[in-house]
Amino acid sequence: MRVLVLTGAGVSAESGIPTFRGKDGYWRNLDPAKLATPEAFARDPKLVWEWYRERRQRIRSARPNAAHAAIAKLAQHADEFLLVTQNVDDLHARAGIAKEKMVQIHGDIFVTKCSRCDFLDTGRGGSPEPPTDRAAVPVERGRLRSIAPTSEDIVDLPYCPECDALMRPGVVWFGEQLPWKELQRVENYLDRGASDVVIVVGTTATFGYIVDWALRASPEGVRGELIEVNPEETQLSQFATQLVREPAAIAMPHLVDTILADHRTP
Ligand code: APR
Repeated sequence: MRVLVLTGAGVSAESGIPTFRGKDGYWRNLDPAKLATPEAFARDPKLVWEWYRERRQRIRSARPNAAHAAIAKLAQHADEFLLVTQNVDDLHARAGIAKEKMVQIHGDIFVTKCSRCDFLDTGRGGSPEPPTDRAAVPVERGRLRSIAPTSEDIVDLPYCPECDALMRPGVVWFGEQLPWKELQRVENYLDRGASDVVIVVGTTATFGYIVDWALRASPEGVRGELIEVNPEETQLSQFATQLVREPAAIAMPHLVDTILADHRTP
């Protein structure tokens, strides 16, 4: 059985991570869709970093939910499997999906990268996180610099150890290109043929490429199942062969067990 799973913010909602377009998505009355842009970062890097640092903190204390676990189970049992997630959190990985079975198409929130050169800090051993004592202190890789040393609300911004430019979160912002290597991995999977099962979970599917990938994996004629798991209607709903209008953590365990039972080889 060949399986493609596409996920969005809704899959992490029940772990307490606010979705982008949901009512909890606003942060300090600001629209995430306006914060997650190169323009917002250029205008106010301190504000954007504060938002990402809070999100990192929230993700660190969150735990994968039953939907993440069910997707990891499906990954383990399918003959060929790819998860393409728009989520920058690490909850799929912590639920146990192997790296080679997952593509984070919008990047990884725990990566910090240079906004000018190729320098990258994976955040796993020496991330330029803000110091807790509000003083600018050197870190293992990258440096932190106070931008307002006398101000009450000091936020230390990371600077590149190679070229001294401002570092930024390793995520894809609105209007930016998708990472080429990750894109290639999705294309390679799609080029190898149709999928028996495509599941699209917890995404508004606002981006054309998400709809496109789901439809390419499930072409007319050789069509397998195209299942949408989302309490609300989306652009993809009209193409689905099965609509599951339930929260992901409730729907996914049962859905995965049914798929595995249906495709079990005798
Ligand atoms: N289970 C399943 N789906 C849910 C749940 C849930 N518990 N809660 C909410 N949803 C659905 C909503 O109905 C909505 O369709 O999840 C979707 C969340 O949509 P968005 O907030 O738009 O998130 P997403 O589709 O992942 O956004 C795509 O846009 O902001 C950018 O780069 C960012 O990766 C993000 C991308």
